[in-house]
Amino acid sequence: DKGAYPYYMLKEIDEQAVVARNIAGHYFDEDGNLQGIPCAVTDAIEAADRLYIVAAGTSYHAGLIGKRYFEQWAKIPTEVHIASEFAYDQPMLSEKPFFIFLSQSGETADSREVLDNVKKQGYPALTLANVMNSTLTREADFALPVLAGPEIAVASTKAYTAQVLVQAILAASLGNPGFDLKAELAKVAVEIQAITDEKESFKKIAEDALKDQHSAFYIGRGLDAAVALEAALKLKEISYIQTEGFAAGELKHGTISLIEEGTPVFALLTQSKTAGLLRGEVAQVAARGANTIVFASEELAKEGDAFVLPQVNELLMPLLAVIPAQLVAYYATLARGLDVDRPRNLAKSVTVQ
Ligand code: M6R
Repeated sequence: DKGAYPYYMLKEIDEQAVVARNIAGHYFDEDGNLQGIPCAVTDAIEAADRLYIVAAGTSYHAGLIGKRYFEQWAKIPTEVHIASEFAYDQPMLSEKPFFIFLSQSGETADSREVLDNVKKQGYPALTLANVMNSTLTREADFALPVLAGPEIAVASTKAYTAQVLVQAILAASLGNPGFDLKAELAKVAVEIQAITDEKESFKKIAEDALKDQHSAFYIGRGLDAAVALEAALKLKEISYIQTEGFAAGELKHGTISLIEEGTPVFALLTQSKTAGLLRGEVAQVAARGANTIVFASEELAKEGDAFVLPQVNELLMPLLAVIPAQLVAYYATLARGLDVDRPRNLAKSVTVQ
C-alpha cells in the first residue's frame, strides 16, 4: 500500500533512512558487535582467495561499491561481473573463488544461470537478496537478508542502499573498516533522512535542468563513478532521457564531444583524492556550454554547487550521493507526465535471459 504517496518510488526513497536503521539493528547487537552472519559464511569467504560479485542492473551497481569494502576492509581481491555476460563468457577464475550473488528479487534469470554454472563447477556461493526464500537464496550455499522491505516500483532505490549497507557490514565482519561502522551508519541514516527532507530542492533542480532535455550525463571519479552509473540508470529508465553515467576522466577520451549548449551534466563530488580533477572536468564541460549541476560533500563543496551532501566517512558517501539522483529521476519523470512506477518495456523482476 502506498498510503498517501502518489507513487511507490517516492515512498521507497523515503523509507531508506528507516531501512538503514533496520539493517544496523539486525546486524549489530546493542554493544556494537556484529551479529547475524553465521561463522560458516565468514569461514567460507576467508578460505577463498578472490570474491566474484555477480548481479544485474542496479544490483550490479551496488556490487561496484561493495568491491571497495571487501578490498579495503577485508583485504580480499574482488571482481564485479554483469550476470548476463558472465553466464556465457566465464572469465578466468582464481584457484579458490567465492561467489556473491546480489539481487533484490532473488529471481533474476541471468544471475540464476551463473549460479547454476558455478555450482556445477563446485564453487561456494552466497546470495544477498531482498526477497528471502527466492530461487537465488534457496539455491546458493548461504544466504543473508538485505532487509529493504518490499520494493514495488520498477526503479530500484531502497534495495540499492540496503545492498550497499549489507555488503559494508559483511566486509566489516571479515576485516576492519578502521572506524566505528555502527556509529557511522547511525549517522548515515540521519543524513539520508535530511536529504529526503529536501525534496523541493530536487524537484526544482529536475524541472529546471531536465524537463525538455533529451540527454543528460552523470560524472564522478572513484566511488562517485560507480554511483554515476546508478544515477544514470535511474534517470534513463523512468524519464526516458538518454543518460550516460561514467568515470569523469573518460570525458576527454570521447564523450566531451557530445556536450552542447545547455546539456545537463550532473557531477557527484564526494571523494577528496580526485576532487581537484573532477572540478577541472566540471569546468571543461561548463566552458563548452554544459549546464553543470554539482552535488558535493560538505568537505569538498564550493559556492555555486547545487546541493551540499552531509559529510560521513568517504567510503559511505555513496549511500548519500545516490539519494539526490533518485529524487531528480523521480521529479524529472513526474514533470514529463510519465508513470514513475511502471516505465515502458520493463518488469520488476526479469525472469528471462
Ligand atoms: O532483482 P534484481 O536485483 O536481481 O534485479 C536486477 C535488475 O533487473 C534491476 O536492478 C533493474 O536494473 C532495476 N529496474 C533498476 O532500477
